[in-house]
Amino acid sequence: TGRAVVKGVGHYLPARVVPNSEFEKTLDTSDEWIRSRSGIERRHFSAEGETTSDLATNAAKAALDDAGMSADQIDAIILATSTADLTFPSAATMVQARLGMTGGFAFDVQAVCAGFVYALSNANALIVSGQARRVLVIGAETFSRIMDWTDRSTCVLFGDGAGAVVLEAEEGTGTPEDRGILAVDLNSDGRYRDLLYVDGGVSTQTTGYLRMQGNQVFRHAVEKLAQTAENALEKAGLSSSDVDWIVPHQANIRIIQGTAKKMGLPMEKVVITVQDHGNTSAASIPLALSVGKQRGQIKKGDLVVTEAIGGGLAWGAVVLRW
Ligand code: ACO
Repeated sequence: TGRAVVKGVGHYLPARVVPNSEFEKTLDTSDEWIRSRSGIERRHFSAEGETTSDLATNAAKAALDDAGMSADQIDAIILATSTADLTFPSAATMVQARLGMTGGFAFDVQAVCAGFVYALSNANALIVSGQARRVLVIGAETFSRIMDWTDRSTCVLFGDGAGAVVLEAEEGTGTPEDRGILAVDLNSDGRYRDLLYVDGGVSTQTTGYLRMQGNQVFRHAVEKLAQTAENALEKAGLSSSDVDWIVPHQANIRIIQGTAKKMGLPMEKVVITVQDHGNTSAASIPLALSVGKQRGQIKKGDLVVTEAIGGGLAWGAVVLRW
């Protein structure tokens, strides 16, 4: 059985760092409120003209470097984003060109904050079915472009950034001891559309901003995240006690803590970057994987569970051995 094994990881954050205090100048908010309600202390915002495909290209180069691979060895690029540069072509094909790739194929995946989990699932399916041997999976977002800067309940929570992994097919034994992606669990429920959406888009001939009923999303998050993580572990023939690292979508420290508690895992087993990045949507998990590896937290052979929920609602989890 073929397994999709992580061979490299990298990330890119735009240069501009914005501390919570900056919002105190224009909004009725405080560093104390933002920290205590979300765990966020600062976030990065991309410069004017710096687009999602720019961030994605830099993260992709870092991941390729880490893997010791060149772009022409890659068969496919899957880019998870809800903030592509243009309506089309896909941001993934822009990255493909920027990397100097003239072969293979590239496409975007849109599942908002769950986008990277969905993209990993797609990459795994391509590898397991033999359609690709090496897949570059990127999460990249510029959510600063869809913020309503007068809405304190959303604009303080999000940031820009990108992360990427390189997956390569490797023969496995078909047991949970194999390296690589061991199981995936994906879910969505479109009835929850109104909890989290952008109130504009191409087909409605409008542009829009992110709208969120934060406390309603919160209510769904902990339960659905713990459930999807446990489903994925069960599919892999594993349980919570086998987990070395939870690498959650970084939306809110209280959701992260609640999910770990529900799964019976201590916070020492959770990679946390929300304080430095804010919610970077589809970029938050690959950013956390990359930072977690740099910090010396995630090591070869570790059992890692990634989980995310976002607009749709869409949610899911991936269990992999690093
Ligand atoms: N500063 C000060 N006060 C604020 C701010 C702010 N920035 N924002 C809201 N408030 C006020 C509200 O107006 C409200 O005041 P009221 O009680 O007088 O009405 C009060 O703070 C409490 O608001 P709540 O929304 O109930 O606060 P809560 O504790 O739920 O925290 C938060 C809000 C941080 C948004 C939280 O609900 C959350 O993290 N939700 C989930 C977000 C998420 O995970 N999204 C999914 C991923 S994103 C994606 O898919 C794109």
